Amino acid sequence: MIKKHFLIARSESDAVKIRFRNASGDIREVTASAGTCVKDAALQAEVAGIIGVCGGYANCATCHVYVDEDWFDRLPPVDEAEDVMLDGTLSERTPFSRLACQLLLTPELDGLTVSLPESQM
Ligand code: FES
Repeated sequence: MIKKHFLIARSESDAVKIRFRNASGDIREVTASAGTCVKDAALQAEVAGIIGVCGGYANCATCHVYVDEDWFDRLPPVDEAEDVMLDGTLSERTPFSRLACQLLLTPELDGLTVSLPESQM
């Protein structure tokens, strides 16, 4: 089942869709503005499973997501700070793990799909 949620975008051309898949396979589709990070889009749309305790400073790992393989290579590389935090996620780190606060939405990422870990804390 896909539930859709629209956040305010500055313009239609600025709107980027992200899909969040929970552990049950249900998908929440959120439309947000380019420039928003995936963590903020999730929090604004009240997507369960993203916490973001540190506010987006790559300092808590409670915004851990698994990026769908098809999208992973389109993302900017993991920097050192993110890499360190990904080693401390509660749910297992995989080759497709990222911190949602480090992923800024761009028009090229329209349709980005991520899965949520079973637990963040
Ligand atoms: Fe804390 Fe992403 S919000 S690491």
